[in-house]
Amino acid sequence: MTIEHTFERKVLITREQIQNRVKELAEKISEDYREKNLLLVGILKGATFFTADLMRQLWMLGLTDAEVDFMKVSSYGDKVESSGSPSILLDLNTDITGRHVLVVEDIVDTGYTLEALREILGKRGASSVQTCALLDKAERRRVQVPIEYVGFVIPDVWVDGYGIDTKQSGRGAPDVLYVVSSK
Ligand code: PRP
Repeated sequence: MTIEHTFERKVLITREQIQNRVKELAEKISEDYREKNLLLVGILKGATFFTADLMRQLWMLGLTDAEVDFMKVSSYGDKVESSGSPSILLDLNTDITGRHVLVVEDIVDTGYTLEALREILGKRGASSVQTCALLDKAERRRVQVPIEYVGFVIPDVWVDGYGIDTKQSGRGAPDVLYVVSSK
């Protein structure tokens, strides 16, 4: 007899809570970047949904000139543990010299990815590099790295949805879900 590992998902953060928080974050960011030439740098794949929602809110708050570009770094792949040394899989097309860069992340866990990203972008002559993360799994942090804008601090549970995956599945859920074993 084969026993398969199965799991179910429960809602951790509802779509309404997410959208309300995105609006709040956008209000703060739009105040802080009002006179600046903002470049959002979304980190593929997980942050695509958050980046899009955040950018739309920023537009509605008057940041109509904000730009967006994307990078892909690999820290987890299909693994559960961070590799600790993320590598760039897809780079920006934008020259960030003199730009005010806001890295947009779906989740910060150990902090290795964000630490590496901030170092890479800082060396490219950006005027500023800050971070906006929807989720902060703070108790998992291995390296201290600043996150200027945080959506939600969450406990150490496996989450997916709203762009975040479990072995590539689950990204399309409009809520943030936590994954529980059902066996
Ligand atoms: C996730 C997440 C962050 C990183 C955070 O990306 O989007 O980039 O891990 O982990 P850390 O703080 O421990 O470094 P992942 O590598 O899973 O890629 P994905 O977004 O394409 O799923």
